[in-house]
Amino acid sequence: MKKILMPLLMVAALALVPYVGVEYAGLGYLFGVLIPYAAAFLLVAGFLYRMVDWLRRPVPFNIATTCGQEKSLDWIGQQKLECPPTRRHAALRVLSEVIFFRSLFRNNKAELRKGPDLAYGSHKWLWLGGLVFHWSLLVIVLRHSRFFFMTPGPFFQFLEDADSFFDVTVPALYMTDVLALAAVTFLVLRRILDAKMRVLSLQTDYFPLFLIAGIVLAGIGMRYVAKVDVMPVKVLMLGLMDFSFNPPGEIGALFYVHLFLVCVLAVYFPFSKLMHMGAIFLSPTRAMPNNSREKRHVNPWNAPVRFRTYAEYEDEYREKMKKAKLPVEKE
Ligand code: HEM
Repeated sequence: MKKILMPLLMVAALALVPYVGVEYAGLGYLFGVLIPYAAAFLLVAGFLYRMVDWLRRPVPFNIATTCGQEKSLDWIGQQKLECPPTRRHAALRVLSEVIFFRSLFRNNKAELRKGPDLAYGSHKWLWLGGLVFHWSLLVIVLRHSRFFFMTPGPFFQFLEDADSFFDVTVPALYMTDVLALAAVTFLVLRRILDAKMRVLSLQTDYFPLFLIAGIVLAGIGMRYVAKVDVMPVKVLMLGLMDFSFNPPGEIGALFYVHLFLVCVLAVYFPFSKLMHMGAIFLSPTRAMPNNSREKRHVNPWNAPVRFRTYAEYEDEYREKMKKAKLPVEKE
């Protein structure tokens, strides 16, 4: 229980900080300008640091995951995506992972039933929940470009129009808002309701989910309930994009809660499990081609070994070997 409540309380406390700071201490400049700059810097620097650190690590073994037939005899079919023979095929496999969560789709669940019997079953809900969660967050973030650019291009306009297709509220209801909330609820409940998952889950599994839920709820609150005026938000963001240090105008405190939680997420990102966003591209089990039959993979950690051939050995000991009546190759 503690590992669920602690992160929940932490997110609630984090949400209170900017609310009190702006509403009662007039710290709009700190929460609207200084903290966002610092958070953006830490996100970029931290992300690059982690990626470069991983890129510099040697890969001792060819450990590509394979779920299909490698290139073999002509009459045996090869599975190029399951067992990628080249970097291009490996890249396609990684992309299919990133876009469709392909391996999660094929993930099985194992359950011990009465008997006891080990039963395997399909696990498509996690795949669907994960996919909806990530895709709706992406669309929401892309839609936010209207705050960061004077005139976002036609693609962003299309996203906006498509997302608000069900024009049932004022302002228009975004489908992704509903989907993101539903998906994050599913992902939290999945960890809480299943006994196995409850044991496996850590505070660091709940914290990002609660944090993202907090961001989404604050955003939804701003749009549909508090109806925050977005013009001063846009002016502030255009200023930040220009690296200006102008103070923010009159914006409701809920906006600062939203923005501050986003800043916490940005700072937390590079040092947490959320780095799977970058790591997937560098994961050797996914990103390596499986060409071990065609190419020798040399372990970069191999210490240089000085070999001594038998001929050299015999040259050194030939006379002694002859005396001991041992056979020699060269007389
Ligand atoms: C991880 C990043 C973010 C997430 C997941 C997120 C999420 C959301 C969500 C779900 C909404 C509800 C309405 C909608 O979908 O547009 C929203 C609204 C809003 N967000 Fe964000 N947000 C993020 C970052 C930001 C940032 C950096 C800003 C700074 C400008 C911002 C400003 C706003 C504003 C002003 C609204 C109200 C929009 C309106 O009234 O139409 N958000 N956000």
